[in-house]
Amino acid sequence: MTTGSPQTATATTTAVRGTLVRYRNDPFLTSREDAFVHEPDGLLICENGRITAAGDYTALRDRIPPGVTPVHYPGHVISAGFIDTHIHYVQTGIIAAFGSQLIDWLNHYTFVEEQRFADGAYARRVASAFCDELLRNGTTTALTFAAVHPDSADALFEEASRRDMRMVGGKVLMDRNAPDALLDTAQSGYEDSRKLIERWHGKGRNLYAITPRFAPTSTPEQLEAAGQLWKENPGTLVHTHVSENTGEISWVRSLFPERRGYLDVYDHYGLLGDGAVLAHGVHLTGRERDRCAETGTAVSHCPTSNLFLGSGLFHVHDAKDPRHPMKVGLGTDIGAGTSFSLLSTMNEAYKVAELTNYPLDSVKAFYLATRGGAEALGLEDTIGSLEPGQEADFVILDPEATPLLAQRTARVEDIEELLFVLAVMGDDRTVRATYVAGALAHDREA
Ligand code: GUN
Ligand code: ZN
Repeated sequence: MTTGSPQTATATTTAVRGTLVRYRNDPFLTSREDAFVHEPDGLLICENGRITAAGDYTALRDRIPPGVTPVHYPGHVISAGFIDTHIHYVQTGIIAAFGSQLIDWLNHYTFVEEQRFADGAYARRVASAFCDELLRNGTTTALTFAAVHPDSADALFEEASRRDMRMVGGKVLMDRNAPDALLDTAQSGYEDSRKLIERWHGKGRNLYAITPRFAPTSTPEQLEAAGQLWKENPGTLVHTHVSENTGEISWVRSLFPERRGYLDVYDHYGLLGDGAVLAHGVHLTGRERDRCAETGTAVSHCPTSNLFLGSGLFHVHDAKDPRHPMKVGLGTDIGAGTSFSLLSTMNEAYKVAELTNYPLDSVKAFYLATRGGAEALGLEDTIGSLEPGQEADFVILDPEATPLLAQRTARVEDIEELLFVLAVMGDDRTVRATYVAGALAHDREA
């Protein structure tokens, strides 16, 4: 049962009531009490796209502006919108492609599909379906790869702008080891990215990420140009892949024999630092993890993809070791990943952690999917924790979304257990509603 409706709010003010969960800090680095805040009967007030109040309903109800009726989601969990720190919108069509590990999978499926994005109409259709799917899954921000074609990045940003979503993305840079139809050059990739930055970075809620695919598909000249572009455009991000698959790592060693290892290739070209997000990092060495920590470089942990492609097991407790913690967010890595849902991704992250003898608790898992992702993107002051002043992107989770879920959540004893059950059993059906900039953007019942 839901009472009130978003239509009763004024155009710029929304209030929602339910069980509120949010983060003030990183629970890998501090106590649960210091990191995590839970209001059993909570209220969120949003004005002009931002949160103006968050806390206990009784304490805050007098602050609801006249004429605004809170939308009540009894028993539902209100969390910051999920943040997907690594996804390829242009691979939406090839999710669940059978039978290969990384390099064969790229050649057989990915590079074939990405050629279709030469067609702007196709790109716009996929971008629209992609944003629908993000919102159906409670994801309000994504760091996403487009294809090599600049138009494919335009299609993504146009669609995100239409929905007022905080989107981060970029056209991929590739000037070798891919089909000719997918290659740019060091110069054209630089120029096209520069124009896209001018057109989209900081426009509305869009941010640009300079996106070399991974070391094997860029020449040293292209990586140099990417580092130069990043230096010239402070505030943009860098988005690439690292140490996902052992065959890939050997290939990088043979292509860059003068470098100390895979991470050192990016380090050498000035591609590490705050705002750099590297997908996977499954096989990073201790020294490489230290280097990520000291430079502020983030890793996107993509468990459904790592299992699907047989890439290996990411050791989240090593990555978040308080002696040298890295920034870590969760990524779906569609189309190697198998679900758009960050709940399903938490589920697989839990299982991967179990296989490495680490019990990933629900407070930490939800952190990785929200504030951890915001920290990875350098946006922790903007999104990810439902603090007043933050942008009002949030998700409403239904603990009774299915009969099986309802019978299980009926017997939970505390909020941690409820979040754990939601993470392990939840998916798109669990997302009752998604709000973007304080406005209803997806309603499961609509
Ligand atoms: N490494 C380089 N490109 C890709 C990609 O598209 N997906 C994954 N999972 N890894 C990559
Ligand atoms: Zn990827």
